[in-house]
Amino acid sequence: MATPTAPETQTNSPKPREHGRLIEWLDRRTGIRELLHEALDEPIPGGASYAYIFGSGLLFIFISQVITGIFLAMYYVPSADDAHTTVAYITKSVATGSFLRSLHVYGASAMVIVLVLHLTQTFMYGSYKGRRELLWLSGCVLFALVLGMAFTGYLLPWDQKAYFATAVGTNVISEVPWIGESLKELLRGGTQLGTLTISRFFVLHVFFIPALIFTFVAIHIFLFRKAGAAGPVDEDPQEPKQKTEFFYPRQLLMDLGFTLVLITVLGALAYFFPAPLGPPANMGNTQYIPRPEWYYRSVFQWLKLWHGSAEILGILVIPAIVALLFVGLPFYDRSRERRPWRRPAAVWAFGIVFTGLVYLGGLSYYQDDHRPSIRMELANERLEEQQYMREPFKPAMNGASLAASAPAAANPLVAQGKKVFQSNSCFACHGEGGVGTSIAPKLIGIGSKFNPTQLQYLLTHPTPKMNAGGMPHFKFTPQQMKALISYLDSLK
Ligand code: HEC
Repeated sequence: MATPTAPETQTNSPKPREHGRLIEWLDRRTGIRELLHEALDEPIPGGASYAYIFGSGLLFIFISQVITGIFLAMYYVPSADDAHTTVAYITKSVATGSFLRSLHVYGASAMVIVLVLHLTQTFMYGSYKGRRELLWLSGCVLFALVLGMAFTGYLLPWDQKAYFATAVGTNVISEVPWIGESLKELLRGGTQLGTLTISRFFVLHVFFIPALIFTFVAIHIFLFRKAGAAGPVDEDPQEPKQKTEFFYPRQLLMDLGFTLVLITVLGALAYFFPAPLGPPANMGNTQYIPRPEWYYRSVFQWLKLWHGSAEILGILVIPAIVALLFVGLPFYDRSRERRPWRRPAAVWAFGIVFTGLVYLGGLSYYQDDHRPSIRMELANERLEEQQYMREPFKPAMNGASLAASAPAAANPLVAQGKKVFQSNSCFACHGEGGVGTSIAPKLIGIGSKFNPTQLQYLLTHPTPKMNAGGMPHFKFTPQQMKALISYLDSLK
C-alpha cells in the first residue's frame, strides 16, 4: 500500500521523474516499496536505543559465518584422511585462507557472546512478556542451534584439540540413562571417532543445523514484527503507550554502528591473531589433556562435580530443570511488570545461574593453571600447536610425528638431552629452547654460570627458590642426566 503523500504512486499523476523506470518496473513486479516500508517503518515505542542492537548484530554474524563457511567448504574434505590436510592447506597455502578461517573461528565465539548479550537484554527488559511466548521459544531453539553449531564445528579441523574435545563431549552424552550409549553411537557413526563421525558432524554443521537456523531466524523475525518491539522497561508490553519512532533511520544506524564494531574487532583478531591449527589427531596420544572451547568450559567443570550415582543429577536432572524453567518463562511469568527492580525473583535467578556459569568457567582455567602437571602438559600442547603452525604446508602428513620432523642437533648427546628437556616439559616454565618465561629464568648461558658437576648437583638438590617456583623433582637415569646437562650446556 502506498503512502497517500507519495505522488509518484498515484495513477493519474504525470510520470514520476525522481525514480528511474527500472525502480518503477521493479515495484510493479515485486511491490518493493511496500516491502521497504514494512521493513524500515517498524515503530519502536519509546524510540531507538542502543539496548536493541544485539539482534541485528546476531543476524550480521550469522551471515558472516555463512559466507566464510562457504569459502571453507570449497576446500574442506570431510574424511579422517583429508580433513586435517585440507584445513592445513586453507590455513597455510590458500591466499587469505587463514584470515577467512580465523573470521569463522572468532565469529563462532562472537556469536555466543552477542547471543548472551541479546538474551540478557531481553530478559532484563522483560521483553518476553505480553503475548511473546512463541517469540521467546523460537529464540530458545536458536540458542540451542547455535550451541550445536559450535559443537559440530569444533571437530571438523580434526587436529588433536578437536579430536580429544569431541571424544569427551560425545562421551558425556553416553551418560544419559537408557538411550545414552545409542545416542553416542548415532552421533559418532560407530563406537569410535572416525570418518563417519566427521561426515556426520559435517552434514549437521553445513546442511542440517543451518537449514534449521534459517527457518527459525525467519520465524523469530516474523514473530517479533508481529508482536512489535516491546520498548523500554516501563512500557506496557501489550498496549504500548509511549511515543514511537520508526526503525529507520536512527535504530538502523545504531544497528549498523554495532555491526561496524563487530567487523572491526573480528577483522583485527583474525588479522593479528590467526586461529591456530594443531598437529593432526593422533588417537594414540594417551597424555593429551582435552579442553573444550571457552564457552563450554563451565559445563565441562560442572560435569566434573558429579560422580557415581549422583551423576544423573548433574548431567540430566538439574540441567533439565533449569532449561525448563528458562524455556517456560513467558508461560508462568505472566505479570505485565517489566521493570527489573520490580521482578527480584526473576532477576536473582538469572544472576545466580549466570554468575555460577562464569564462576565454574573461571575455576576450570584457574585449576589448570595451578596444577603443575596439567599446566605443563597444556603448555606442551600449545607449543606443539605453535610449532605445527610454523611448519610449511606438507600434503598428507598423515600423523607424521613432530619429534621426527624437528631438526636434530648435530651432537647426538645434545639431541637426546633436548628430548629429555621436551618430554619433561622444562620449557613450560623455562620457555622453548630455555629462553625463559615469567615463571622461571632463562637457561641460555647456564653453562657459563655452572659447570656440569654443579648443574647436576643443582638438578638433584633444588634450591629453595626452585622449590618455591614449583619446579618438580625430576628422577633421571644417569644417561638422561648426562644428555640433559650437555643440552643445557649447549644453550648459548
Ligand atoms: C614448574 C616450573 C618449572 C619446571 C617445569 C622446570 N623448572 Fe627449572 N626452575 C623453575 C624455577 C621457579 C627455578 C628457580 C628460579 C630462581 O632461581 O629464581 C628454576 C631453576 C632452574 C635452574 C637453575 C637456574 C639458575 O639460573 O639458577 C635450572 C638449571 C633448571 N631450573 C632446570 C630445569 C630443567 C632441566 C627442567 C626440566 C627437566 C626444569 N628446570 C623444569 C621452574 C621450573
